[in-house]
Amino acid sequence: MDLISAKDAAQKWNISQRRVIVLCSEGRVLGAQLVGNSWVIPKNAEKPADARTKTAKTKTGEAKPFLKWVGGKGQLLSEIGKYYPFAEKKHIKKYAEPFVGGGAVLFDVLNKHSVDEIYISDINAELINTYITIRDNSDELISRLKAMESDYLVKDADARKKAYLEARARFNALKRDGIRDAEAASLMIFLNRTCFNGLYRVNKAGDYNVPMGAYKNPQICNEDNLLNVSKKLQNANIVCGDYKDSASFIDDKTFVYFDPPYRPLTKTANFTSYTEHLFDDSKQLELANFVQDLDNKGALIVISNSDPKNTDENDNFFDDAYSKQNIRRVAANRMINRNSDARGKINELLITNF
Ligand SMILES: C[S@@+](CC[C@H](N)C(=O)[O-])C[C@H]1O[C@@H](n2cnc3c(N)ncnc32)[C@H](O)[C@@H]1O
Repeated sequence: MDLISAKDAAQKWNISQRRVIVLCSEGRVLGAQLVGNSWVIPKNAEKPADARTKTAKTKTGEAKPFLKWVGGKGQLLSEIGKYYPFAEKKHIKKYAEPFVGGGAVLFDVLNKHSVDEIYISDINAELINTYITIRDNSDELISRLKAMESDYLVKDADARKKAYLEARARFNALKRDGIRDAEAASLMIFLNRTCFNGLYRVNKAGDYNVPMGAYKNPQICNEDNLLNVSKKLQNANIVCGDYKDSASFIDDKTFVYFDPPYRPLTKTANFTSYTEHLFDDSKQLELANFVQDLDNKGALIVISNSDPKNTDENDNFFDDAYSKQNIRRVAANRMINRNSDARGKINELLITNF
């Protein structure tokens, strides 16, 4: 019997190599066999019908978050979107998102509007390196991710675990040495797609320490999306640093979205440990003062945060801090705390100065 490689089958069937590997590992390609680390496929095998659930397809050219990120605002987009102040004209002069994280709102804004000037920042240097690499060096990043993906998907559970731990150790070595390049960016994406729940957590020494997740066929390289993201970010200022550095960019023509680390709703909830830098109550109040300064400059501002009244109806922390702004409470679908009884719908705050 004539056999061909997964790469050749991908070309023949006009699908990605990853898709061929997934189909083979799901037992849907008649006669496919794993030889060592690679699938071989009978030359005359038929392309299996696509049994994937059809989810809403991304419109051509649209960009979406390329990482899973704790506190991601995917679910709140329809509420936050009501505040996009220039919806009619589909044009925004300046957009700033100083706590960008996974960028759910950023990409929503960029998919719906043309924006002349963009400023995004985050205190997480490895995250910002990934944004910069996608903007400036997407080809190298994509070829690294493709290689990692085809290498990883054919491995058995033990070999995957070994590969994950090696990638994590290499990521931490680069992080410790302050090396921020395409390799570090590819490891950031690889770890995010294969780790437990897409978490980003570091220990006291600053080492990323999330264990491996249990995904069967994680998508490590979404080439189309990375290219779309790269295109959308070509004119973006991408800054690693404190949100206050955005002050020089923001003026009366700027629409600003602030999504700081949540104020924890319970004493045990630990939503704030994204990086080595904690965001405690005094930081939340500093942000409220900063917002007031930008309000005085004439910027249009939206801020989101957790609603302390979910757990204590007498807690007026944000009502006091933002007493000069408008505060709306919107229902969100997240849990207060995995170990708590208080599950289900809770409110989040949307605070605006317009
Ligand atoms: C709630 S997350 C943002 C989530 C984002 N909106 C999304 O959709 O994925 C908060 C982000 O703020 C960043 N951060 C924490 N302290 C910061 C600071 N002082 N300045 C800038 N960014 C900070 C964290 O690294 C994290 O990515």
